[in-house]
Amino acid sequence: MSGRHAAPGPADRTASELTSDKTVPAVSLAEDPEWWRHAVVYQIYPRSFADANGDGIGDIPGILSRVGYLRDLGVDAVWLSPFYPSALADGGYDVDDYRDVDPRLGTLDDFDAMVAALHELGIRVIVDIVPNHTSNRHEWFREALASPPGSAARDRYIFRDGLGPDGSQPPADWISLFGGPAWEPVGDGQWYFHLFAREQPDLNWDNREVRDDFLTTLRFWSDRGVDGFRIDVAHALAKHLGEELPDQATLDELPREGGHPLWDRNEVHDIYAEWRQVFNEYSPPRTAVAEAWVEPHRRPRYASPEGLGQAFNFDLLEADFDGDAFRRVVDFNLDLAAQSGSSSTWVLSNHDVVRHATRYGLALPDDPDERRGAAWLLAGGPEDELDRERGLRRALAATLFLLGLPGSAYLYQGEELGLHEVADIPADQRQDPTFFRNPGVDVGRDGCRVPIPWEREGPSFGFGAGAPHLPQPAWFEDHAVSAQDGDPDSPLALYRAALRLRRELRTAEELEWVESSGQLVHFRRPNGWEVATNFGSEPVALPEGEVLLASSPVQGFLLPAETTVWLRRSR
Ligand code: NOJ
Ligand code: CA
Repeated sequence: MSGRHAAPGPADRTASELTSDKTVPAVSLAEDPEWWRHAVVYQIYPRSFADANGDGIGDIPGILSRVGYLRDLGVDAVWLSPFYPSALADGGYDVDDYRDVDPRLGTLDDFDAMVAALHELGIRVIVDIVPNHTSNRHEWFREALASPPGSAARDRYIFRDGLGPDGSQPPADWISLFGGPAWEPVGDGQWYFHLFAREQPDLNWDNREVRDDFLTTLRFWSDRGVDGFRIDVAHALAKHLGEELPDQATLDELPREGGHPLWDRNEVHDIYAEWRQVFNEYSPPRTAVAEAWVEPHRRPRYASPEGLGQAFNFDLLEADFDGDAFRRVVDFNLDLAAQSGSSSTWVLSNHDVVRHATRYGLALPDDPDERRGAAWLLAGGPEDELDRERGLRRALAATLFLLGLPGSAYLYQGEELGLHEVADIPADQRQDPTFFRNPGVDVGRDGCRVPIPWEREGPSFGFGAGAPHLPQPAWFEDHAVSAQDGDPDSPLALYRAALRLRRELRTAEELEWVESSGQLVHFRRPNGWEVATNFGSEPVALPEGEVLLASSPVQGFLLPAETTVWLRRSR
């Protein structure tokens, strides 16, 4: 076989017993308080993972039915995007009740059964906490609307009087992150603030009741056995609006750190210090990872052991497929991790961005500030502009690079199937508010949230018995789990082999660069595990060592273009 994983060539290079398609043995959940430092965390977007009751929406029993798949994949933990009751104004990030399961997705009993099954297989569970805003259907917001200006119920949110004699003008001209105004009138001269959709009113984190309620929520899920939390928009909770609101132009000029009215204020960490006390009530302590799009040098504050403990690093996700860029990102983030005492996190894809196989298959946009893939999506995803094969080849190389790094890796459902972004979702079937709030400017994030294919055939490619809540393209057939199972050259086989090997090769959180030139980037871990990526478009000499795994077929003495190899080298 000259497949992706076997690597015949110079002496002692095959490692077929390590790279075959066999399943990963279950790992027992030993008390390892440091598990998160090196975990491979698999993000599940519950409504698009598996649909057990055939209503077209993925659900908790669906996840339960697929725990064997997660075990065989070899992940250490799953992170579930919100599964709470929600009107889905923002894919579930508009939460009606933080301590329940959306009835369309199951019950708390189903949740408990899912946690038990995952734990049984040695897989930990992380849930999403959305503390910046509730949904507009949350009982607190309903109460706020039914209560007068100045009431305790309104103080849980951010209400302001409108301008003008009758308050009919917004308190400020602020624009929400999803487009459109950030202030919404409630009909009595007052307006409420929302950073995101109008269905997501921002909470007032100066309010003690708000703070206490989230401590209750953290304990509620921790008591049910949840191992950790992913904190949505962790850098926005603390706000200081003052009496006089600046206009949007002034806001835009202010540095987004420390003392900005809305973003990354220093006192946000007082909130997380309280959360840490709660995490430490448990054994092992519950963990958390901050979604904080802050200036990189501010990230260690969120990752501090006195705070959330870990923070997402989106630098690889934002980098081009380029050796120098990747190397710089790694150096910089290992330094940051050392500053916080945490381990670094690594991410290439999630539910908010164009899938990395697609980003890497598109020509670079002229404007470097433009979000990768956004213009292509906006143009309706012209097929002739996407080199699917090259994008996937680069994506697998980037993933294998990432999985060799010290720290923890966050994977997004479907990337292990080599999925591309779905570009051709008809406008009347789109769901993401960013599409509706920015007509002609942004098509939104539905294209990475399409239900994943399990079977080559059948309704919704095995996702469920009914029509899926977002339409799946015909090309999903070739990416189905059943199409890849047993195929040693498939992306799925590569992910399985990589995760199994990664467990076996685990070593100290250190990395040393091996001298290399051009687009070859090569590093060594303390136990002789080496990772070499050829980011260029021409083959280069294969570095010495036993090839354990390769992201595309390696033959002879060459490392092909856009390929990563894992090597073992005795020193
Ligand atoms: C970040 C989440 O990842 C995204 O999906 C959501 O729309 C916003 N936060 C608002 O909650
Ligand atoms: Ca369902």
